[in-house]
Amino acid sequence: MQLDPDNLPKHIAIIMDGNGRWAQAQGLIRLMGHKAGVKAVKEIVEAARELAIPVLTLYAFSTENWNRPHDEVSGLMTLLKNYLKSELEAMLKNDIQLRAIGDLQKLPADVYDILSETMERTKGNKALILNLALNYGGRNELVHAIKDIGRKLLSGKVQVDDISEDLVNNHLYTRGLPDPDLLIRTGGEARLSNFLLWQSSYSEIYFTDTPWPEFNKESLKKAIADYQQRQRRFGKTGEQV
Ligand code: IPE
Ligand code: IPE
Ligand code: MG
Repeated sequence: MQLDPDNLPKHIAIIMDGNGRWAQAQGLIRLMGHKAGVKAVKEIVEAARELAIPVLTLYAFSTENWNRPHDEVSGLMTLLKNYLKSELEAMLKNDIQLRAIGDLQKLPADVYDILSETMERTKGNKALILNLALNYGGRNELVHAIKDIGRKLLSGKVQVDDISEDLVNNHLYTRGLPDPDLLIRTGGEARLSNFLLWQSSYSEIYFTDTPWPEFNKESLKKAIADYQQRQRRFGKTGEQV
């Protein structure tokens, strides 16, 4: 598949869905689907790096996912911890910077610690920003931003007329990152599930039935090729762009 190197998305965000159903369809327990999902994460991170995509955001755990059975939540947290431990070396070698968005303080302390350490040790890396959405919810993010801005209003650091789209952007977990150009959801559902509500206002959205454990480099290239066929008009007419 030939991709146009001049029209690559600068930021790809992925809702990695379908692990549980993929496992259950083969008579496996859901956690085996998440385990297979980690392998897919490794492949897609490598592919994004090779394709020179500057930012990759992966939705790994939502604010709503705490409502799953306790065993599944703790299994996911263990997989996350092991992933971070095992990938540090590869991140350092491949110039990958780890970041995270979400209400991170509410993660289990051991996960939070290894996450902070990995972010600290990779913060100088430049080739790819790997941004993990952990305990992330778009509404939680907006409430968090509104509280921050509210505190600044009360202390006089910000005036009401200073509130602008830029100011809001600068109070989101994603501050400093470009909005996603391409937002992919695997696993067959066509919804956002509280992901990047503000940032995705002009993202090109790509839904695929492929469950996350089967999503590979070819699937990513296919999604990018689809993106490259689209005309992004941002409200203008086709003749204007
Ligand atoms: C996505 O797969 C992974 C997480 C939400 C953590 P699911 O676990 O939601 O898989 P399905 O949707 O039940 O198949
Ligand atoms: C979205 O998937 C969250 C992640 C991929 C982390 P879900 O499986 O939780 O979404 P719903 O519940 O089907 O909308
Ligand atoms: Mg799901």
